[in-house]
Amino acid sequence: MARQSVQVALLLWTTTLLSLRTYCLAELMDDQGYASCVTSRRRVQNLSGQNLTNVPLDLNNDTQYLDISDNPLVKLQADPFQRLSELCFLKVTSCGLRLIDQGLFVHTPKLKFLNISHNLLDYIPDLSLPLLKILDLAGNQYDSYKLPATFETMANLSVLYLGSENALQVDFNDFDSLSDSSLQHLILGGGVKWQRYDRGSLVKIKSLQKITLKVPFCENFDLFQNLLEDVNETQTTDLELVNVLPDLCNVTGDPFRSLRTMPLVKNVTIVNTWINSSFMVILFKNVLLSNVRMITFVNITYSEDTPDGFKIPTLNHTTVIRSIIFDGVTHYQYKYPIVEISVDMFSKLDYLKFSETGMNIVPCNFMSSLPSLETLDLSNNLLTDSGFWWSMCSNTSVFPKLRHLSLSKNRFMDLSFISQKTHEMKYLESLDLSFNSISLDKPCFWPTHITELSLSNNNLGNKVFSFLSQYLQRVDLSKTGITALTREDLLQVPTLTHLFLSFNRIKVIPTDLSPTLVSLYIDQNAITSISQESLVGLPSLRTVKAGDNPFVCSCDSYWFITALNKSLLSDWPLDYTCSTPPSVANLPMSEYKISKISCETWLQAAVALPVTMVIMLALCSAFYACDGVWYTKMLWVWIRVKRRGQKQANLLSNMTFRYHSFISYSHQDSAWVESKLVPSLEGAGLSLCIHERDFVPGQWIVDNIINCVEASYKTLFVLSNHFVQSEWCNYELFFAQHRALDTQQDSLVFILLEPIPTNSLPKKFLKLRSLLNQQTYLEWPKDERKQQVFWVNLRSMLQVADHRILKDMALALAESASLIPDDLVPLL
Ligand SMILES: *[C@@H]1O[C@H](CO)[C@@H](O)[C@H](O)[C@H]1NC(C)=O
Ligand SMILES: *[C@@H]1O[C@H](CO)[C@@H](O)[C@H](O)[C@H]1NC(C)=O
Ligand SMILES: *[C@@H]1O[C@H](CO)[C@@H](O)[C@H](O)[C@H]1NC(C)=O
Ligand SMILES: *[C@@H]1O[C@H](CO)[C@@H](O)[C@H](O)[C@H]1NC(C)=O
Ligand SMILES: *[C@@H]1O[C@H](CO)[C@@H](O)[C@H](O)[C@H]1NC(C)=O
Ligand SMILES: *[C@@H]1O[C@H](CO)[C@@H](O)[C@H](O)[C@H]1NC(C)=O
Ligand SMILES: *[C@@H]1O[C@H](CO)[C@@H](O)[C@H](O)[C@H]1NC(C)=O
Ligand SMILES: *[C@@H]1O[C@H](CO)[C@@H](O)[C@H](O)[C@H]1NC(C)=O
Ligand SMILES: *[C@@H]1O[C@H](CO)[C@@H](O)[C@H](O)[C@H]1NC(C)=O
Ligand SMILES: *[C@@H]1O[C@H](CO)[C@@H](O)[C@H](O)[C@H]1NC(C)=O
Ligand SMILES: *[C@@H]1O[C@H](CO)[C@@H](O)[C@H](O)[C@H]1NC(C)=O
Ligand SMILES: *[C@@H]1O[C@H](CO)[C@@H](O)[C@H](O)[C@H]1NC(C)=O
Repeated sequence: MARQSVQVALLLWTTTLLSLRTYCLAELMDDQGYASCVTSRRRVQNLSGQNLTNVPLDLNNDTQYLDISDNPLVKLQADPFQRLSELCFLKVTSCGLRLIDQGLFVHTPKLKFLNISHNLLDYIPDLSLPLLKILDLAGNQYDSYKLPATFETMANLSVLYLGSENALQVDFNDFDSLSDSSLQHLILGGGVKWQRYDRGSLVKIKSLQKITLKVPFCENFDLFQNLLEDVNETQTTDLELVNVLPDLCNVTGDPFRSLRTMPLVKNVTIVNTWINSSFMVILFKNVLLSNVRMITFVNITYSEDTPDGFKIPTLNHTTVIRSIIFDGVTHYQYKYPIVEISVDMFSKLDYLKFSETGMNIVPCNFMSSLPSLETLDLSNNLLTDSGFWWSMCSNTSVFPKLRHLSLSKNRFMDLSFISQKTHEMKYLESLDLSFNSISLDKPCFWPTHITELSLSNNNLGNKVFSFLSQYLQRVDLSKTGITALTREDLLQVPTLTHLFLSFNRIKVIPTDLSPTLVSLYIDQNAITSISQESLVGLPSLRTVKAGDNPFVCSCDSYWFITALNKSLLSDWPLDYTCSTPPSVANLPMSEYKISKISCETWLQAAVALPVTMVIMLALCSAFYACDGVWYTKMLWVWIRVKRRGQKQANLLSNMTFRYHSFISYSHQDSAWVESKLVPSLEGAGLSLCIHERDFVPGQWIVDNIINCVEASYKTLFVLSNHFVQSEWCNYELFFAQHRALDTQQDSLVFILLEPIPTNSLPKKFLKLRSLLNQQTYLEWPKDERKQQVFWVNLRSMLQVADHRILKDMALALAESASLIPDDLVPLL
C-alpha cells in the first residue's frame, strides 16, 4: 500500500487576522427576507438603532420589510401593526423586549420572516402565522423550550431558532406542536450546558433534516448520546455542533462513536470549538468509519497535544469522505502543525478547503497527490507565488484531477508566472485569483484548459484584457479599475459566455460583446443608459445584472424601460433607480413613466404630421385672408433683387444714362402715372422720361420712343387694357425695328395696373405675350399698405433688375400658381 506521510506546514502567527470572520448563519434571514419580500425599496423601513421607544404609528401601510432592532422598545404593541397587512419581514432584535401584545400578528398574516431574537422575553410567544418560514427566537430568557400549541398552524415553518440561557433542559413534550410541521432546520440551545434531555423529544420533529446544537456537552456526553440517538430517528442528514467542546474540557470516552452507526448523517459541522490533536484523531476516526461525506470545521482553535501531531493509522476500510473544510483555524501553539495521514484514506476526497488557516506554504506533496481531488480552495491565507509553488513541490505538483483552484484572498502577485505554472495542472479549468495583489508586467501564456478566471478585486486597469487567455469562457473582472471596454479588448476573449464587470467605472456597454455571451454583470458602474444595440446581438443572453448605475431617465432609457424583457435582469426592479434628471432622482426606474410618443421618432412623425398640417392649414387660411401671397411675392422679388444689387450697382455706375427709366403708358392711365408713379419715383431721386412731357414734338412717335429708350437705363411699361389696345402697336413696330433690344430684355419692367390674363390678349400681340410670360411684373395693389411695398420693389427694380433673376422668379411664381387663386395671378 502506497503511503505518503507528509508534514503539513501552516503558519501560526495569524490569530488576529482570523478572528475577523463572521459565522455564516448570521444575516441569512436578512438577505433571504429582503430578496423574497421586497418588491420596492420604498417598502423597506429600516428604523434600527434610532432610540425609539415605540414602533411609529404612521408607517406606510404598504411596508413589506421592517427592521426596528436596537431600540429600547420593551413592549411591542399591536396598534402600529394594524395597518401593516403587507408586512413580510419583521426584525425586532436587541430591543430589551419583554412583552408582545396578544393578537399583534393577527394584523400581519403575510409575515414570512420573524426575528425577535436577543430580547428579554421570558416566554415563547403564541404565534399563528401560516406563511412563516423562518422564525428566530434565540437569545431570550424563557426557561423552557415548550412550544405553544399555536405553532401547529405554521405549516410552512422551515427554520426555527430556539435558545435561552435559562432553558437548561429539553422535556419530552416540548416539540409536540411541530410533529406535523415541515420544519427542516432546528437551531437549538442557548450556549449553556443542559441538565436534562428527555429521550424521544426531538424524534417528534420527523421532517427534521438539519439540527444545530448550541450546547456544550463537556462532561455530559451521556446526554449527547441520547440526543444523537433521537436525531438518528429523524431525517437528519446535517449535524452542526456549536461550541460542543469548550476550552479546558475533560472528555471521557468517545462521544462521536455514534456517528459510525448513523447512516443518514452525511454532513458534520463543528463550529467555535477548541480542539486538540488527540481529540481530532478520535473524531476523524469516527468520521472515516461513518457514512459522513463532508466534515466542516468553522472557527476552531487547534492545539497539538500529541508529539506526532495529527496522525491517523491506516484504517482497513474504504472511506466515503468527499469533502473536508477548514474555515478559520486559530493555532494555539506557535509552530507548524504536524499532519501524518495516508492519501489512500482520502481516495474519494474531491473537495478540500483550507481557508483562514494562516497557511503560507502548501503541503503540496499531500494535496497534489490526492487522486480524486477536483476542487482545492486555499482562499484567505498567506500564500504567495513561491509559497504555493515552492521548490520542494516541483516534482509532485500534478494534482491529477484538479479542476477548480481558488487562491482568492492571498498574496499572489505575478500573473505571468502563475499562467506558466498552471500548465502543470493538466485538468485545471477554473482559477480564482480574486483579492490578491496581482500585477501585470510580463505577458501571460495560459494553457488551453483554463476556461474560467477570476481576477476580481485586484488593481488592474484597462490593460487587463491583453493578459487574458483567448480560451476563457468565464471571466470575473469585478472591481479591477476598468474604465472602458474597447473592441480590441473584447477580441482577446472571443468565446466568452460569462462576463462579470461589477464595481468598475465603465460608462458604456460596448456593442462588440461576444455573441456567445450568456451572462453579463455590469452593475455598480457608471452606466447612464442601456441601449438596444448593446444587447441585441447577444442571442444566448440569459442573465444581466446592471443595477446601481447612475441611470438617466429620459428617452435614452426608453427602450430599456419599456421594451427590454425584464426577466433577463436578475436585479430588476430593486437596484434600478433614476439618477438624473434631478426631478426624478432616486425614483425607482420601474415607476418612471415614459410616454411612447415623446420618445419614438416614427410616432412623433405620425402624430406631428397631421398636427403640423392642421396648423399649416390654419396658417394658410390666415395667410390668404391677409393677402400673404401677395406680400410673399413682393418680399421674394425684393430679396432676389437686393441680392444681386451689389453687382448691378457697379454696372450702373460705369454707364451713363440720361434717365433711370423711360415710362410708357396709355394716356388713359396718365392720371395714375402723374399722381402716383412720377411723384413716388422722382421723389426717390430717379429721373424719368415720360412721353407726354419729354417727347420731342413733331418727331415720329417711334423715333421718340427709341430716343427715350436709348437714353434710359430701363423701360417701364404701365400695362392696362387701354395700353394694350391703344399703344402697344407702336412698340410692336419699335421692337420690330430694334431687334437688338431683345437681348436686353432685362431692361424692361412691367407694371400691371389691372389684371390682364395672357390668353385674353389678341393673337397679334405675340411679343407682349411672350414678354409677359418671360418677364416678371409688378401688380398695382389697391390696398394702401401694400402700395408701400410696391414702391420699394419698383424702385429697386428700376435700379438693379436683372433679366435672369426675374425669369427665375417668374418661374417660381408660376410653379406655385396652383396654390394661388386665379384672381391673384392673372397672368401666370
Ligand atoms: C436575527 O437577528 C440577529 C441580530 O441581528 C442575527 O444575529 C440573527 O442572525 C438573525 N436571525 C436570522 C435567522 O437571521
Ligand atoms: C438597517 O440599518 C442598519 C444600521 O443603520 C444597517 O446595519 C442594516 O444593514 C440596515 N438594513 C437594511 C435592510 O438596509
Ligand atoms: C435615547 O432617548 C432617551 C430619552 O428617550 C435619552 O435619554 C437618551 O439619551 C437617548 N439616547 C441616545 C443614544 O440618543
Ligand atoms: C393603504 O392606504 C390607502 C389609503 O390610505 C389605501 O388606499 C390602500 O388600499 C391601503 N393599502 C393597503 C395595502 O392596505
Ligand atoms: C408554503 O409555501 C409554499 C411555497 O413556498 C406555498 O406554495 C404553500 O402554499 C405554503 N403553504 C401554506 C400552508 O401556506
Ligand atoms: C440508528 O438507526 C439505525 C437503524 O436505522 C440503527 O441500526 C443504529 O444503531 C442507530 N444508531 C444510533 C446511534 O442510534
Ligand atoms: C480533567 O480530568 C483530570 C483527571 O481526570 C483532572 O485532573 C482535571 O482537573 C480535569 N480538568 C478539568 C478542567 O476538569
Ligand atoms: C484534548 O481535548 C480533549 C477534548 O477536549 C480533552 O479531553 C483532553 O484533555 C485534551 N488533551 C489535552 C492534553 O489537553
Ligand atoms: C451537506 O452540506 C453541503 C454544504 O452545506 C450541502 O451542499 C449538501 O447538500 C449537504 N448534504 C446533505 C446530504 O445534506
Ligand atoms: C470563535 O470561537 C471562539 C471559541 O472557540 C469564540 O469565542 C469566538 O467568538 C468565535 N468567533 C466567532 C467569530 O464566532
Ligand atoms: C483488513 O481486512 C481484510 C479483509 O477485509 C483482512 O484480510 C486484513 O487482514 C485486514 N487488515 C487489517 C490490518 O486489519
Ligand atoms: C525531481 O525529480 C528529479 C528527477 O525526476 C530529481 O532529480 C529531483 O531530485 C527531484 N526533485 C525533488 C525536489 O524531489
